[in-house]
Amino acid sequence: MIDTNSGRLVPPPPRPEGVTVEEWLNNISEPARYSGEAPDRSREQVETGPDGGALGRFREILLRTDDLGWVEKTLAGLSHKPLWRDDETGASISLVRFEKGSGIPSRHSHASNQFMFCMKGRYTYVPTGLTLTEGSFYWNPKGSMHGPTLAEEESILLEVYDGPHYPTQPDWYSSPEDAR
Ligand SMILES: [Fe+2]
Repeated sequence: MIDTNSGRLVPPPPRPEGVTVEEWLNNISEPARYSGEAPDRSREQVETGPDGGALGRFREILLRTDDLGWVEKTLAGLSHKPLWRDDETGASISLVRFEKGSGIPSRHSHASNQFMFCMKGRYTYVPTGLTLTEGSFYWNPKGSMHGPTLAEEESILLEVYDGPHYPTQPDWYSSPEDAR
């Protein structure tokens, strides 16, 4: 279990017309363990869960992803913008960017379903010749071997996992954080 940024709290946003003070203050999520940029900008309360870990309570939030900086990962040419994660299940949503000529170097599988929506670029699964271009939707079913991959152009993908990313930390990352 991971408690990420659990101490960072934000005040409630302005109350809409027609909504009572009490309703507005209580219009937040059930206690949950979420992290990433969206939860980190909408966590209004923290409480202690049954296991002693911190749980947050969150409100609806909109991010302008262009305003977020790219965070480099420990694979050359790969950076990301972590948008949302369920720290209980490992499910996550991120924008990922591969510089031209970079890619995942080895054949591998994931510990959950992986989905990618291509925002721009040309991103190819080399053995099968599947190339994602703008507007492409890709699903890699849990446990299915795939890759290596190659970004034929700079490629930006919205990547969604419905659970943990990898069975074990892949050898192309030197940080376990990058394999989450
Ligand atoms: Fe993969």
